Amino acid sequence: MPDHLLEQGPERKPERKPEREPEREPEREPEREREREPEREREREPERGTERGGLRRLPFRRANVLDPPAEFAALRAEGPVRQVRTLSGATAWAVTGHDAAYRLFADPRLGRSYPGPDPDRAPRVSASPFAGRPYGDPVTERERHLRMRQVLAPSFSTRRVRLLAGRADALVDGLLEAMAARTPPGDLHQLVSEPLPVLMMCELFGVPYEDRDRFRAWSGAYARFDAPEVARAAQRELFSYVRELVEQRRDRPADDVISDLAALEGLPEAEIVQLTMLLMFAGHDTAVTRIDYGALLLLRHPEQYAALGADPSLVPGAVEEMLRMSVPSDHGLVRYAHADIETDGVTIRTGDAVLIFHGVANRDPAAFPDPDRFDITRVRESARPSLAFGYATHFCVGAQLARAQLGSVFGRLARRFPALRPAVPLSELRATANTVTGGLTALPVTW
Ligand code: HEM
Repeated sequence: MPDHLLEQGPERKPERKPEREPEREPEREPEREREREPEREREREPERGTERGGLRRLPFRRANVLDPPAEFAALRAEGPVRQVRTLSGATAWAVTGHDAAYRLFADPRLGRSYPGPDPDRAPRVSASPFAGRPYGDPVTERERHLRMRQVLAPSFSTRRVRLLAGRADALVDGLLEAMAARTPPGDLHQLVSEPLPVLMMCELFGVPYEDRDRFRAWSGAYARFDAPEVARAAQRELFSYVRELVEQRRDRPADDVISDLAALEGLPEAEIVQLTMLLMFAGHDTAVTRIDYGALLLLRHPEQYAALGADPSLVPGAVEEMLRMSVPSDHGLVRYAHADIETDGVTIRTGDAVLIFHGVANRDPAAFPDPDRFDITRVRESARPSLAFGYATHFCVGAQLARAQLGSVFGRLARRFPALRPAVPLSELRATANTVTGGLTALPVTW
């Protein structure tokens, strides 16, 4: 979300005032003004680089689609937790060091909600309605989150994941057969990376496969960070769609997540719909982008691709290394400080925004020697955990399912298409510019 997310549903204000109000930031008013500016005005502003006051300003520029902007490494060299200016013009703490990210992921003083009385005054990260601002109520956040995890856990049981892993194998085989029937070159993004996660979502939720294009469109629109109205409209449409599905499952339960949720005693319909939407968004674009990035990384290392095709036991390690190296988005995971936090030589004040750049932390040389080297056998020698699925409280609910899906794609791709290679140089690949999840617009390959 992640890359995402909202477990508390649409934006809401806290019910009661906390003991202590956070200090106000001088730039918040201009920041709110900025949010109201027409998009065209904002586009004309100088966008990158270091401003006069010394803060680096997001977004940073990438040299190529694969590697996170070099400016993140420069920032980390200054310190693992440093202030930056966000896309919305507010200040936020950027966490780029692995050790700091690991600790802060687990720090109970950080939350997704804003600890002040008015979340509209919180420092904004972007105009995205779900990943650019706080969510939920600081008083109930922890309890609601815990409940969400408890409610979702049975739907991601070992049995369900095993079942879905089997389905993933069959779905991948189908997609690869269709690809083999074509004359090369082709776009792997269109042929495999986009359809597979949608098909998996259809399996998970029992959604009719005919609805896949609508779902894909909503998912893309919802991830937009530059057009809040478009994102909100997608959210509303998906809400109605999912509500209908929930009603259907109440009448005719099946072996899927919506039926699991609908069968739970006392879980209100609106909450079931929100949880389903959360899963749909959390599990879709994240998987699409990792299939693209993983394939690209492998194809740029033909000897490792060949080794993977020859030895299936390399698949789990390859998946971990792809996840570590794939940084499709430069949006950090958003948190707000609910208390003052002394860390790594700085003080994060109550109410400050914190952006955990977990993908950048996964390239920290202090955690992974020679971090920009892709090595599918690295997992054996690595002492530090990858943060690709986050860590601690919000650790990805679908991590095992995602791993199964990726393992299925890459193992099968390497065996079925041993001669697969990129059809264009890296410099010609384009990144999606305006979504929180990022990713490639196309991945031309030949075989
Ligand atoms: C390769 C694919 C995926 C990646 C890289 C990924 C990554 C992540 C990350 C980094 C987080 C932590 C967010 C944070 O700390 O704020 C997260 C949370 C989450 N993910 Fe995933 N994810 C993937 C696939 C999935 C799938 C397939 C599902 C379910 C169908 C899913 C459901 C969730 C949910 C519900 C959360 C929220 C957990 C919470 O807040 O407690 N993810 N994911």
